[in-house]
Amino acid sequence: MVILMGLFENSNNMRELVRAVSKELKVDRNEAELVIAALMDRPRFELYMKSTLEEDEKTILWSRVMQLKNGMPIEYITKRVQFQDSTLRILPGVFIPRVETEYFVEMIQKIVPQRPERILEIGTGCGAISIALAHLYPEAKILATDISGRAIENACHNVRELRLESRVSLLQGNLYESIRGEFDLIVSNPPYVPHARMGQLPRSVREFEPLTAIDGGERGVQFIEKLIAQGMDHLREKGLMAVEIDEESVKLLRKFLTSQNMASFFFRKDSYNKYRFLFIGASHEES
Ligand SMILES: C[S@@+](CC[C@H](N)C(=O)[O-])C[C@H]1O[C@@H](n2cnc3c(N)ncnc32)[C@H](O)[C@@H]1O
Repeated sequence: MVILMGLFENSNNMRELVRAVSKELKVDRNEAELVIAALMDRPRFELYMKSTLEEDEKTILWSRVMQLKNGMPIEYITKRVQFQDSTLRILPGVFIPRVETEYFVEMIQKIVPQRPERILEIGTGCGAISIALAHLYPEAKILATDISGRAIENACHNVRELRLESRVSLLQGNLYESIRGEFDLIVSNPPYVPHARMGQLPRSVREFEPLTAIDGGERGVQFIEKLIAQGMDHLREKGLMAVEIDEESVKLLRKFLTSQNMASFFFRKDSYNKYRFLFIGASHEES
């Protein structure tokens, strides 16, 4: 830290700054360049084009490197996240979309038989899934909800930036509260980590991401059970419900679905070969 501060204070030279960041974050030069490029929102190849930094650029870079060192996810520092083809704004306090969820959207596209006209997303966060679905299904009208006002504010920003306001509507609320009507597709990546496992999550998640987005209660499936049970009133006859789940919840969910007399459901694996996705729908195969 002292070395870095010294270098930052004494030098505006990019090569020295890269060396200092590499030392401070304990990463190699390549990674240090990638981090600096991301933190400065510049392509990496441009870093050395202007080999010195202005004083205020240096101060901002310094404080961002320190935030990163303290465990803050880089997405909260840059306020950007890439989700499929879209660069989205992400505000601290809103769940950061994960790569598994990009895979979830791909899987939905493969499984949904026809083009859905009306889509409902519960727990939209920064709006990533709904925005991806809006791009996949240009005819669809999407309603996305979240209990968190900050998430809705974040999603509104992204929907506006991508000019999707006429097709993606946002609503703050608890589960299906205030939802009227039926949908062809109900989708959710809900809070699903069992409470006892919350302590094992990486520090950057525990300390910086919103726990209400992650904590699935004592068994990890309480939220999903409500999501499914209440969702049946909002699913069209040939509709499909798609839910991202915890790989360890398959047994509990199978038991729950059977107890609800739901005959038509199946689980699918993610790219790491783990059961991650649950699909429920009258017209689909059972497993
Ligand atoms: C795991 S995050 C998923 C966010 C986003 N869909 C994604 O995939 O990146 C779960 C989201 O559900 C929201 N949520 C939690 N409890 C809720 C509830 N009772 N009703 C609606 N949304 C809820 C959280 O605020 C959070 O944004």
